[in-house]
Amino acid sequence: MNEKRKIIFNQENSSASESKNSSGRDSLHQQETEEDQVYSLSLRPSRIEEFIGQQELKDNLQVALQAAQQRKEPIEHMLFSGPPGLGKTSLANIVANHMGARLTTTSGPSITRAGDLIGILTNLEHGDVLFIDEIHRMSKTVEEFLYPAMENFKIDFIVDKGPYAKTINFNLKPFTLIGATTRSGLLAAPLRDRFGIFYHLGFYQPEELSTIVTKSAEKLNVTIMPEASLEIARRARGTPRIANRLLRRVRDYAQVKTSGETIGKHVVDEAMGTLRIDVAGLDDLDRRLMQVVNDHYKGGPVGIETLAATLNEELDTIVDVVEPYLLKIGFLNRTPRGRELTDAAVQHILVNKV
Ligand SMILES: Nc1ncnc2c1ncn2[C@@H]1O[C@H](COP(=O)(O)OP(=O)(O)OP(=O)(O)O)[C@@H](O)[C@H]1O
Ligand SMILES: [Mg+2]
Repeated sequence: MNEKRKIIFNQENSSASESKNSSGRDSLHQQETEEDQVYSLSLRPSRIEEFIGQQELKDNLQVALQAAQQRKEPIEHMLFSGPPGLGKTSLANIVANHMGARLTTTSGPSITRAGDLIGILTNLEHGDVLFIDEIHRMSKTVEEFLYPAMENFKIDFIVDKGPYAKTINFNLKPFTLIGATTRSGLLAAPLRDRFGIFYHLGFYQPEELSTIVTKSAEKLNVTIMPEASLEIARRARGTPRIANRLLRRVRDYAQVKTSGETIGKHVVDEAMGTLRIDVAGLDDLDRRLMQVVNDHYKGGPVGIETLAATLNEELDTIVDVVEPYLLKIGFLNRTPRGRELTDAAVQHILVNKV
């Protein structure tokens, strides 16, 4: 990756979405941590060939990239949606690299005034990629300036009011906007409509995560057995970021507790035990949530706000991070009247009591 060409504006950690669970312990659910950020510089795929899984998405993306290159045009604006840690930021980097484009990175909550956005947009060169992370958290007034900018690379900014009002027009150079969101449902329709390409990232299969773990282990100089990589993958909640994070925890554990032999499955099992991550990859917060639905609400249905309040957790953490995986593995059902626990979940909490 051409780091020199990468400009970072207002680099803001999404602290609002980072969470500690109520016990104060860092949660597995925590979103991108500083440690993740540092490691992701070395572990983040920078070419499409290094991006594991999401085959259909990659096939479509490759066609779009090639077509844009043949026409010598910037690629259309694209939106990546999906739960945290599945590779949205990585894909934005891959697209910019592939197009040989300069990448400017910012995030929805960090653009607080229209002037911030206009400053960023007017600095873009022909073909640049602007990546806006958490685009659903951008303020509505700022967002409205984005519409004409995306549509015809123009912005009209009105200064002063009443009889003194005058319009300043900015002509922008053709650029590509890449938006990333964990909640595409919160995006305003006019914004959504201005993206030409939508990609949704789903959870990864254990085999795909196992490949990611194996490759990361090579980069980190960790020797690990295939069945140990697969065990990490099984417990990684379908999420590459968590797989890499668990690998680092297993590496720490092996360094301190073993005499440096190749990491086997039993070391992974032990390390996971100390982290209180069970065989399904669930941690205390997941189990606590299921327990609360079971004990306090007779298995549900219970409204998600009520549930977040009872758990004393941020609603966003529950909705963005905890719930999607529980739904995916069939432990939770979403009904019009709220969330319900499934029989499989009840079985699981019986065996894995908190
Ligand atoms: N398909 C993949 N192949 C290999 N590694 C991956 C893949 N997807 C993600 N990763 C790894 O997971 C890390 C997290 O991915 P990334 O930061 O792109 O996720 P994200 O979707 O942007 O998350 P967030 O919503 O929290 O911003 C990357 O640094 C990379 O190491
Ligand atoms: Mg990201």
